[in-house]
Amino acid sequence: MYVSHLKVRNWRNFPRIDVDLQKRQFLVGPNASGKSNLMDVFRFLRDIAKVEGGGLQKAVVERGGMTKIRNLAARRDPDIAIEVRFSDPVNGRETWRYELGLKQQARGNRHTLITYERASRDGTAILDRPNEDDQEDLVRLTQTYLEQIAANRAFRDIARFFQSITYHHLAPPLLRHADLIGGRTLEGDPYGQDFLEKIAREHERTRRARLSRIEQVLKVAVPRLEQLEFIRDQETGRPHLQALYAHWRPRAGIQREDQFSDGTLRLIGMLWALLDGDSLLMLEEPELSLHTGMVNRLAALIQRIQRNSGRQVLISTHSAALLSDPDIDQEEILLLKPVPEGSEAEVTGNVRDALLLLERDTSEDRSSLERTQADNLNQLNLFE
Ligand SMILES: Nc1ncnc2c1ncn2[C@@H]1O[C@H](COP(=O)(O)OP(=O)(O)OP(=O)(O)O)[C@@H](O)[C@H]1O
Ligand SMILES: [Mg+2]
Repeated sequence: MYVSHLKVRNWRNFPRIDVDLQKRQFLVGPNASGKSNLMDVFRFLRDIAKVEGGGLQKAVVERGGMTKIRNLAARRDPDIAIEVRFSDPVNGRETWRYELGLKQQARGNRHTLITYERASRDGTAILDRPNEDDQEDLVRLTQTYLEQIAANRAFRDIARFFQSITYHHLAPPLLRHADLIGGRTLEGDPYGQDFLEKIAREHERTRRARLSRIEQVLKVAVPRLEQLEFIRDQETGRPHLQALYAHWRPRAGIQREDQFSDGTLRLIGMLWALLDGDSLLMLEEPELSLHTGMVNRLAALIQRIQRNSGRQVLISTHSAALLSDPDIDQEEILLLKPVPEGSEAEVTGNVRDALLLLERDTSEDRSSLERTQADNLNQLNLFE
């Protein structure tokens, strides 16, 4: 199944979102237009549903409370509403639907309360809260059924889907220096600090198969790279990736991941994420650190891998090169446009609209940008 529609009210900088989503969906918009915030709707659902240490209250607190999540332009204490519709990837028919309404307790400990929680399958209601149990014991409305294994049996498919949502925004320095930096790894390890351990935990046959596919891409994208393999350091036992580069001195071309280029690491991380799992994957700006020649082919590469894994992918991007692929359908591009109360999300009728929006910072809208940022820009010039 995949998410075929998202409807949201009062979520961060979006007063509302009501859009169809495709199996491959690009999120396009200027800085601070809400690409990451839109992805955060799905991370939020994952954080509620996750098996260990999940739950609604924690997911809200981790985000700084309802006041941070709720759209600032919304009237006093309005509800947040989230609706996710799922469809069958083969015939496109809608299957599941999950709806959640949230508000903040007016007094006391200001917990987040469920105003409603509904699930349905093929149009038939499976869950409709508040139910009798909730009326008897209002404290129950501080927890969703998503986070309760005993309660969500009838819509476990939805809970499982949310649990395995992945958000990927690999930061090469964090991966390279994970040992030195130490520190906390966020849920789902979006920045790749635990990436090597994750590869190590994978079943050997799967790991080999995936790395061999990744190697095929790297051989094209990374000059002189001939081989990629997983090894364990003989002394420390730590997992590493090792690449063999063509070199004029024998054995001189062996490098470990701490010496890989940023682009090489990001490419490996993205490809691994694409090959790992079948729920929704969100990629933040996959074009970062990559050469334009590679970026031009990213959309096709993602689609080719999807064809096997069936995995739905949301991709935020600032790259016109990425969107220049003529095989991208118009409905695959979701434009996030700033409006006075935040942002609007709409599926573009035209890929060129998206390209124009991307270019606006530099050309079309220069006059308004200059009006609003002239002082800062002038200061920047001092350093040139
Ligand atoms: N509760 C809220 N109400 C209104 N606006 C909010 C709220 N929470 C965050 N924002 C705004 O959302 C914007 C950030 O959006 P986001 O990080 O999703 O942008 P983005 O499109 O990912 O940008 P970039 O391309 O720079 O990564 C900020 O301007 C922030 O002030
Ligand atoms: Mg962002």
